[in-house]
Amino acid sequence: MDIKISPSALACDLSRFAEECQAMYDAGAHMIHLDIMDGHFVPNLTFGAPLIRCLRGKSPIIFDAHLMISRPDLYIEDFVKAGADIITFHIEADCNTADTLKKIRSFSVKSGLSLKPGTEIEEVLPFIPLVDMILVMTVEPGFGGQSFMADMLPKVRFLRDNYPTLDIQVDGGLNNHTSKLAVEAGANIIVAGSYLFGQSDYKKAVGELYEICIQSAE
Ligand code: DX5
Ligand code: ZN
Repeated sequence: MDIKISPSALACDLSRFAEECQAMYDAGAHMIHLDIMDGHFVPNLTFGAPLIRCLRGKSPIIFDAHLMISRPDLYIEDFVKAGADIITFHIEADCNTADTLKKIRSFSVKSGLSLKPGTEIEEVLPFIPLVDMILVMTVEPGFGGQSFMADMLPKVRFLRDNYPTLDIQVDGGLNNHTSKLAVEAGANIIVAGSYLFGQSDYKKAVGELYEICIQSAE
Protein backbone atom coordinates (compact mmCIF):
# COMPACT_ATOMS: atom_id res chain seq x y z
CA MET A 1 0.00 0.00 0.00
CA ASP A 2 1.18 3.50 -0.76
CA ILE A 3 2.19 5.43 2.33
CA LYS A 4 0.71 8.92 2.53
CA ILE A 5 1.27 11.75 4.98
CA SER A 6 -1.67 14.03 5.81
CA PRO A 7 -0.72 16.91 8.13
CA SER A 8 -3.66 18.06 10.25
CA ALA A 9 -4.19 21.78 9.75
CA LEU A 10 -5.82 22.02 13.16
CA ALA A 11 -2.32 22.60 14.49
CA CYS A 12 -1.24 25.20 11.90
CA ASP A 13 -0.98 28.97 12.31
CA LEU A 14 -4.66 29.63 11.53
CA SER A 15 -3.95 33.27 10.66
CA ARG A 16 -1.93 31.92 7.70
CA PHE A 17 -4.10 28.94 6.81
CA ALA A 18 -3.59 28.99 3.02
CA GLU A 19 0.17 29.53 3.27
CA GLU A 20 0.45 26.68 5.78
CA CYS A 21 -1.40 24.29 3.41
CA GLN A 22 0.85 25.32 0.55
CA ALA A 23 3.95 24.97 2.72
CA MET A 24 2.99 21.37 3.52
CA TYR A 25 2.38 20.72 -0.20
CA ASP A 26 5.82 22.13 -1.00
CA ALA A 27 7.26 20.00 1.81
CA GLY A 28 6.00 16.85 0.08
CA ALA A 29 2.85 16.09 2.08
CA HIS A 30 0.42 14.01 0.02
CA MET A 31 -2.72 15.73 1.33
CA ILE A 32 -3.87 18.13 4.04
CA HIS A 33 -6.25 16.94 6.77
CA LEU A 34 -9.06 19.40 7.54
CA ASP A 35 -10.88 18.79 10.84
CA ILE A 36 -14.48 20.00 10.81
CA MET A 37 -16.09 20.15 14.27
CA ASP A 38 -19.60 21.33 15.12
CA GLY A 39 -19.50 21.70 18.92
CA HIS A 40 -22.13 18.96 19.14
CA PHE A 41 -20.66 15.71 17.86
CA VAL A 42 -17.45 16.75 19.62
CA PRO A 43 -16.98 19.43 22.30
CA ASN A 44 -15.06 21.81 20.05
CA LEU A 45 -15.69 24.13 17.08
CA THR A 46 -13.57 24.71 14.01
CA PHE A 47 -14.72 25.77 10.55
CA GLY A 48 -16.91 24.72 7.65
CA ALA A 49 -17.17 24.56 3.89
CA PRO A 50 -16.74 28.33 3.22
CA LEU A 51 -13.17 28.23 4.53
CA ILE A 52 -12.38 25.19 2.37
CA ARG A 53 -13.78 27.03 -0.66
CA CYS A 54 -11.42 29.95 0.00
CA LEU A 55 -8.43 27.65 0.42
CA ARG A 56 -9.26 25.74 -2.78
CA GLY A 57 -8.08 28.58 -4.98
CA LYS A 58 -4.79 28.85 -3.13
CA SER A 59 -3.36 25.33 -3.19
CA PRO A 60 -3.59 22.21 -5.37
CA ILE A 61 -3.02 19.89 -2.38
CA ILE A 62 -5.57 17.10 -1.86
CA PHE A 63 -8.15 18.16 0.74
CA ASP A 64 -8.80 15.33 3.21
CA ALA A 65 -11.90 16.52 5.12
CA HIS A 66 -12.65 14.81 8.45
CA LEU A 67 -16.21 15.67 9.51
CA MET A 68 -16.78 15.43 13.25
CA ILE A 69 -20.36 16.65 13.00
CA SER A 70 -23.71 15.16 14.02
CA ARG A 71 -25.45 15.47 10.62
CA PRO A 72 -22.82 14.98 7.89
CA ASP A 73 -25.57 13.96 5.45
CA LEU A 74 -26.86 17.56 5.39
CA TYR A 75 -23.52 19.07 4.37
CA ILE A 76 -21.97 16.62 1.87
CA GLU A 77 -22.88 18.73 -1.15
CA ASP A 78 -21.47 21.87 0.49
CA PHE A 79 -18.12 20.19 1.11
CA VAL A 80 -18.03 18.75 -2.41
CA LYS A 81 -18.76 22.16 -3.94
CA ALA A 82 -16.14 23.75 -1.69
CA GLY A 83 -13.50 21.43 -3.15
CA ALA A 84 -12.99 18.54 -0.72
CA ASP A 85 -11.32 15.54 -2.40
CA ILE A 86 -11.91 12.98 0.36
CA ILE A 87 -14.86 13.25 2.75
CA THR A 88 -14.79 11.19 5.94
CA PHE A 89 -17.56 11.14 8.52
CA HIS A 90 -18.21 9.11 11.67
CA ILE A 91 -20.20 5.91 11.95
CA GLU A 92 -21.47 7.30 15.29
CA ALA A 93 -23.05 10.33 13.54
CA ASP A 94 -26.82 10.73 13.42
CA CYS A 95 -27.45 9.77 9.79
CA ASN A 96 -27.91 6.76 7.52
CA THR A 97 -24.33 5.56 7.02
CA ALA A 98 -24.81 3.70 3.74
CA ASP A 99 -26.85 6.49 2.13
CA THR A 100 -24.32 9.12 3.18
CA LEU A 101 -21.39 7.10 1.78
CA LYS A 102 -23.29 6.63 -1.49
CA LYS A 103 -24.01 10.34 -1.62
CA ILE A 104 -20.30 11.17 -1.28
CA ARG A 105 -19.42 8.74 -4.06
CA SER A 106 -22.19 10.04 -6.31
CA PHE A 107 -20.10 13.22 -6.64
CA SER A 108 -16.99 11.21 -7.59
CA VAL A 109 -15.36 12.21 -4.32
CA LYS A 110 -13.59 9.61 -2.18
CA SER A 111 -15.57 8.35 0.80
CA GLY A 112 -14.17 7.71 4.26
CA LEU A 113 -15.74 6.26 7.37
CA SER A 114 -14.28 6.84 10.82
CA LEU A 115 -14.79 5.21 14.19
CA LYS A 116 -14.17 6.56 17.68
CA PRO A 117 -11.98 4.62 20.13
CA GLY A 118 -15.02 3.15 21.90
CA THR A 119 -16.59 1.73 18.72
CA GLU A 120 -15.87 -1.88 17.78
CA ILE A 121 -14.26 -2.51 14.40
CA GLU A 122 -17.01 -4.99 13.50
CA GLU A 123 -19.45 -2.08 13.21
CA VAL A 124 -17.74 -0.65 10.13
CA LEU A 125 -17.32 -3.94 8.26
CA PRO A 126 -20.73 -3.97 6.52
CA PHE A 127 -19.90 -0.59 4.95
CA ILE A 128 -16.48 -1.44 3.53
CA PRO A 129 -17.80 -2.05 -0.01
CA LEU A 130 -18.94 1.61 0.03
CA VAL A 131 -15.74 3.20 1.34
CA ASP A 132 -12.40 4.22 -0.11
CA MET A 133 -10.85 4.64 3.33
CA ILE A 134 -11.40 3.73 6.97
CA LEU A 135 -10.16 6.24 9.54
CA VAL A 136 -9.27 4.58 12.84
CA MET A 137 -9.21 7.27 15.56
CA THR A 138 -6.28 6.83 17.90
CA VAL A 139 -7.49 9.57 20.26
CA GLU A 140 -10.95 10.68 21.35
CA PRO A 141 -11.95 13.12 18.55
CA GLY A 142 -12.19 16.82 19.38
CA PHE A 143 -8.72 18.11 20.10
CA GLY A 144 -5.18 18.01 18.77
CA GLY A 145 -2.17 17.29 20.94
CA GLN A 146 -3.50 14.21 22.77
CA SER A 147 -1.62 10.97 23.43
CA PHE A 148 -1.75 8.07 20.97
CA MET A 149 -3.90 5.15 22.12
CA ALA A 150 -1.84 2.06 21.28
CA ASP A 151 -4.79 -0.15 22.19
CA MET A 152 -6.42 0.92 18.89
CA LEU A 153 -3.72 -0.90 16.91
CA PRO A 154 -5.54 -4.26 16.88
CA LYS A 155 -8.35 -2.55 14.89
CA VAL A 156 -5.79 -1.52 12.27
CA ARG A 157 -4.24 -4.99 12.21
CA PHE A 158 -7.63 -6.65 11.82
CA LEU A 159 -8.53 -4.39 8.89
CA ARG A 160 -5.21 -4.88 7.12
CA ASP A 161 -5.32 -8.66 7.54
CA ASN A 162 -8.80 -8.83 6.07
CA TYR A 163 -8.67 -5.98 3.51
CA PRO A 164 -5.16 -5.92 2.01
CA THR A 165 -5.89 -3.10 -0.47
CA LEU A 166 -8.00 -0.81 1.74
CA ASP A 167 -6.70 2.66 2.58
CA ILE A 168 -6.40 2.74 6.38
CA GLN A 169 -5.89 6.15 7.97
CA VAL A 170 -4.92 6.75 11.58
CA ASP A 171 -5.48 10.07 13.34
CA GLY A 172 -4.45 11.31 16.78
CA GLY A 173 -1.15 11.40 18.61
CA LEU A 174 0.93 10.39 15.58
CA ASN A 175 4.63 11.26 15.67
CA ASN A 176 7.91 9.64 14.57
CA HIS A 177 7.52 6.87 17.19
CA THR A 178 3.79 6.11 17.07
CA SER A 179 3.63 6.27 13.25
CA LYS A 180 6.03 3.34 13.14
CA LEU A 181 3.66 1.29 15.30
CA ALA A 182 0.65 2.30 13.21
CA VAL A 183 2.32 1.40 9.90
CA GLU A 184 3.61 -1.90 11.29
CA ALA A 185 0.00 -2.71 12.21
CA GLY A 186 -1.10 -1.94 8.64
CA ALA A 187 -2.01 1.76 8.44
CA ASN A 188 -0.94 3.56 5.26
CA ILE A 189 -2.24 7.13 5.71
CA ILE A 190 -0.79 8.98 8.66
CA VAL A 191 -2.47 12.12 9.99
CA ALA A 192 -0.15 14.21 12.13
CA GLY A 193 -1.02 17.66 13.45
CA SER A 194 0.94 18.98 16.40
CA TYR A 195 3.97 16.82 15.55
CA LEU A 196 4.46 18.15 12.00
CA PHE A 197 3.31 21.74 12.46
CA GLY A 198 5.40 21.95 15.63
CA GLN A 199 8.62 21.65 13.63
CA SER A 200 10.39 24.56 11.99
CA ASP A 201 11.47 22.72 8.83
CA TYR A 202 8.35 21.14 7.29
CA LYS A 203 10.25 19.55 4.41
CA LYS A 204 12.61 17.78 6.78
CA ALA A 205 9.77 16.78 9.12
CA VAL A 206 7.51 15.37 6.37
CA GLY A 207 10.45 13.68 4.63
CA GLU A 208 11.68 12.00 7.80
CA LEU A 209 8.22 10.86 8.85
CA TYR A 210 7.62 9.45 5.36
CA GLU A 211 10.96 7.59 5.48
CA ILE A 212 10.14 6.08 8.88
CA CYS A 213 6.77 4.93 7.54
CA ILE A 214 8.23 3.45 4.36
CA GLN A 215 10.79 1.51 6.39
CA SER A 216 8.13 0.30 8.85
CA ALA A 217 5.96 -0.92 5.98
CA GLU A 218 8.69 -3.21 4.61
C1 DX5 B 1 -8.75 15.21 16.52
C2 DX5 B 1 -8.49 15.45 15.07
C3 DX5 B 1 -7.09 15.25 14.65
C4 DX5 B 1 -6.08 16.17 15.32
C5 DX5 B 1 -4.82 15.40 15.44
O1 DX5 B 1 -10.12 15.20 16.72
O2 DX5 B 1 -9.29 14.57 14.29
O3 DX5 B 1 -6.95 15.32 13.24
O4 DX5 B 1 -5.83 17.35 14.63
O5 DX5 B 1 -3.90 16.17 16.14
P1 DX5 B 1 -2.56 15.58 16.71
O6 DX5 B 1 -1.77 15.03 15.56
O7 DX5 B 1 -1.93 16.74 17.37
O8 DX5 B 1 -2.94 14.48 17.69
ZN1 ZN C 1 -8.88 14.46 12.15
